[in-house]
Amino acid sequence: MATIPQPKGYPLIGNMAEIDPNAPVQSLMRMARAHGSLFRFDALGQGIVVVSSQALIDELCDETRFQKALHRPLQEARYVAGDGLFTAYDEEPNWGKAHRLLMPAFGPLGLRAMFDRMVDIAEQMMVRWERFGENATIDVADNMTRLTLDTIALCAFDYRFNSLYQNEMHPFVAAMVGGLDETGRRARLPAGAGKLMLLRNRRFEADIKVLRDVSNRLIEERLQDPRLGERGDLLDRMLTAKDSETGLTLSRENVGYQIITFLVAGHETTSGMLSFATWLLLTHPEALAKASAHATRCWGARRPRSTISGG
Ligand code: HEM
Repeated sequence: MATIPQPKGYPLIGNMAEIDPNAPVQSLMRMARAHGSLFRFDALGQGIVVVSSQALIDELCDETRFQKALHRPLQEARYVAGDGLFTAYDEEPNWGKAHRLLMPAFGPLGLRAMFDRMVDIAEQMMVRWERFGENATIDVADNMTRLTLDTIALCAFDYRFNSLYQNEMHPFVAAMVGGLDETGRRARLPAGAGKLMLLRNRRFEADIKVLRDVSNRLIEERLQDPRLGERGDLLDRMLTAKDSETGLTLSRENVGYQIITFLVAGHETTSGMLSFATWLLLTHPEALAKASAHATRCWGARRPRSTISGG
């Protein structure tokens, strides 16, 4: 039987010395270059297997055998996102309930319904960039964070953060970064040790309160909306739709966790992807020219519209 390669580590901390807490993904990429597309590393006694080839990832994403693994960082993130979809255990009833209720909203028809709002926010950003003029320096990663936070909030909850009109980022962003930073730090320490630092705990609790206040405000405002149940976005669905299997709606507490989950999971990932895509396009002029020609051919000066069909 073949053994999975593992770099040599140290007693107790295992291979943690190889992980730069400020650039964990780059650390794993460096390790993959040295040890191949399948390797194991020891994180404080916990064995983690890392795969990085398309073939192995396809194998792991085979839905007939897929099971979610709530590893340490996700367990710690439950302080922030409770049993929301991302941090729920596979077998937790709220995972199945929310999964069944929300799946259609993320299908092609659900996404088509979000399209005009995506264009609305993208236009806000592009108009702003145009007005800066040709010689301005633009912080792309910062702008993409504003773009994606505003897009997910508008598409999912019909809520406008208006981040592109403010100098400072919405307090939700600082609280989210602080909260994730703390969960990541706790996950790198032996279980329970992270809670011993009182000052950090207080900051963590303050960050969680900001996230909860935002989600509570969204729920409160929607519950008082006379069009509740008719608006058809994710928030409406979460507050009013009944699960086909249990006949129950999501609890208010769980809806709060899902709101935080969508805002966090839906904007960090996409803003990172868009920032990298921009950088790659700018450093590959031939690809940029091809993409630009394609966009001009499809839309010219017209407003982009959804081409997803069906239903
Ligand atoms: C480029 C964009 C994105 C990337 C790279 C990405 C990546 C991922 C990955 C890797 C997972 C699995 C995590 C695990 O099980 O360990 C995941 C799950 C999830 N993502 Fe995303 N995501 C993206 C965009 C989004 C958006 C836009 C949303 C919501 C609006 C979202 C919401 C979620 C949720 C709710 C889960 C948990 C699903 C479940 O376990 O039932 N993601 N994502």
